[in-house]
Amino acid sequence: MTQFTVNDTELRLERYPPQPQDPLQAWDAADELLLSAHQLADGPLWVLNDHFGALGCGLRLQERSLCWVNDSFVAHQALAQNLELNQLDPLEHTAPTPDPAWPAPVGVILKLPRNLRLLTAQLDWLNRQLPAGTPVVIGARQRDMPSTLPDLTRQLLDQVHPSRAVKKARLVYGQLSGRSSDLPQVVSWPCPELGLTVHNHPNVYGGSRLDLGARLLLKSLPSTQGLVVDLGCGNGVLSMGLLQANPEARVLAVDESWDAIQSCRQNLTPLADPSRIELLWNDCLSGVEGGQADWVLCNPPFHQQQAITDHIAWQMFRDAKRVLKTGGRLRIVGNRHLGYHIKLTRLFGGCTTVAANAKFVVLEAQKR
Ligand SMILES: C[S@@+](CC[C@H](N)C(=O)[O-])C[C@H]1O[C@@H](n2cnc3c(N)ncnc32)[C@H](O)[C@@H]1O
Repeated sequence: MTQFTVNDTELRLERYPPQPQDPLQAWDAADELLLSAHQLADGPLWVLNDHFGALGCGLRLQERSLCWVNDSFVAHQALAQNLELNQLDPLEHTAPTPDPAWPAPVGVILKLPRNLRLLTAQLDWLNRQLPAGTPVVIGARQRDMPSTLPDLTRQLLDQVHPSRAVKKARLVYGQLSGRSSDLPQVVSWPCPELGLTVHNHPNVYGGSRLDLGARLLLKSLPSTQGLVVDLGCGNGVLSMGLLQANPEARVLAVDESWDAIQSCRQNLTPLADPSRIELLWNDCLSGVEGGQADWVLCNPPFHQQQAITDHIAWQMFRDAKRVLKTGGRLRIVGNRHLGYHIKLTRLFGGCTTVAANAKFVVLEAQKR
């Protein structure tokens, strides 16, 4: 839990999911600077990519009407948690993507996303939907600002000017221009390992090629007629391979990224009858009924926002065990150095190595 001061009022903020003695705080210097120096007129605001709700809570405290957009399911959970922790009312509008029916804002506050494809897609969308001249303020820590940011912002915004740096964070002020990047929203790339084209929406994990860990796991997919959970599915490459090789199997593909779920929908729909595919925007397997899956496949993430962490892998492995039938199996891939065999042995009482190369290892654990 950290104390975050906005206009002399203290907010209590936690990352999500909350963890005892978490050394990481739920806000950064860019959030502080955005709240104290956004310079936007009174009236409704749109807020994009707020990591754990610091901006939502801080602007709520300033009695702003807010439309709050985040691709991440976990960020939505964090916002709800932190509003409640501070006895603040829920926001008027929250969604994974902006809604054209929302009230037009006096300005847009945008926390710089890690992924510049997402920033480009968001600025393209804002330029299409909102009047030219609408103010936009982008905030980030300086170390998170890529060297290509000035060119990108000048391409898509007018009147671009940076603030001075405060506590190593900076704002970029600009106005919507009505211009477009002319880049496609969805990038499609051939995947020779699958013999299929893969479609990636802007914020899905990975570029225009297969993740090296996923490549190894694809070579060692199980044969099954049962229910397979693709946990942290991204664009769904593991489910694509699984459905191709197992014409009777059903897939539940889960990810916390909205764009991952949209990519997965586009990639899996041509491969199987809709009755064999379920897609879920969720935090790991929270709320999913236990004891039902024959297999769980997982290529776990090892960072949350900018921080390297193993708590999501732990949560995924624990949830997998709960959702598996007795006798069901979890098959994962990870960098050798991450030592996932230790976690699996602790949770499942043992694990076996299914495949390995110089960098990655595929491990399997059975629920007894
Ligand atoms: C290493 S990528 C794997 C993507 C894909 N399965 C592959 O093998 O290429 C990890 C995925 O986990 C997702 N993820 C991260 N945290 C999550 C959470 N709490 N719940 C569900 N998915 C999560 C990320 O969005 C990302 O798509």
